[in-house]
Amino acid sequence: MFPHDRMRRLRSPSIRKMVRETLLAPNDLIYPMFVDETIDSYKPVPSMPGVNRVPLSEAANEAKSVADLDIPAVILFGIPHEKDETGTCAYGDDDVVQNAVRSIKDELGDDMVVITDVCLCEYTSHGHCGIIDRSTKEILNDPTLEILGEVAISHANAGADIVAPSGMMDGMIGKIRSDLDTNNHSNTVIMSYAAKYASSFYGPFRDAADSGYTFGDRSSYQMDPANSNEALREVELDIQEGADIIMVKPALPYLDILYRIKSAFEIPTAAYNVSGEFSMIKAAAEKGWLDEKAVMYESLLSIKRSGADMILTYFAKDMAELLK
Ligand code: PBG
Repeated sequence: MFPHDRMRRLRSPSIRKMVRETLLAPNDLIYPMFVDETIDSYKPVPSMPGVNRVPLSEAANEAKSVADLDIPAVILFGIPHEKDETGTCAYGDDDVVQNAVRSIKDELGDDMVVITDVCLCEYTSHGHCGIIDRSTKEILNDPTLEILGEVAISHANAGADIVAPSGMMDGMIGKIRSDLDTNNHSNTVIMSYAAKYASSFYGPFRDAADSGYTFGDRSSYQMDPANSNEALREVELDIQEGADIIMVKPALPYLDILYRIKSAFEIPTAAYNVSGEFSMIKAAAEKGWLDEKAVMYESLLSIKRSGADMILTYFAKDMAELLK
């Protein structure tokens, strides 16, 4: 009790470093890259200052600049030359992500872990994460699984270290695990976007990846932001189906979910600091209302403190530079 106990004793500049509970390091970060096979030079994403679409020819150089900052991994999103009803350009041997993976692995090998987003929304003409029934507009679960299996196999064939299914289809982890295993990819890691919410914080990403939808919304497959117990159930199922790493997305508005999941399952856990979380800070900093670097650091530290072992963030390079 005061005056015996004084919490401020441990807050002096020299001692506070010794009692710090959470440390952020470049190893905690994963850098998202938007690789576009339709462009020849970097193309800025207007709603995400500092983020660019990268031409296929620059993918390896871009990944090299990430590796030089000691960031261990990138996650790739592809912008294809053509979209159709069933996302055909998501799984061809010679499509954008497959080519990007190959060029990065050729250049960097084990110095860069390549993660691929496994989803259809960047490749379908309607922009949904699954194939649809034309008349009812329903997003069809089971037929989509067949395609997601093909996508994952094509990424692994190209050399992806980790596949990250993000479409929130039921049974997708089990299907992808068995398809990988029967195609000589039993060592390919699965990072599941297990607790992915139907969030409005994805707005700027849909510009970046050209993945907005032409009708409806994603609420028939992504989770209701009001639910928490359901996230535990999603994660439990994905672990049973074979996920090696699970993810919570978005991060900052869902730190309670992250904390519950990490406490309940003690499995490697990722959090996705999504486009809207990034752009809000950028916009406020541009107006001079927030200190960008300080708020970036505090945000990412909060995500780690809440239980994330790794953070997917558009701030990865800036954060790694600040940590140097
Ligand atoms: C694809 C996907 C999305 C994001 C990552 N993978 C978009 C969505 O579900 O609409 C969002 C990432 C971000 O906002 O930074 N399914």
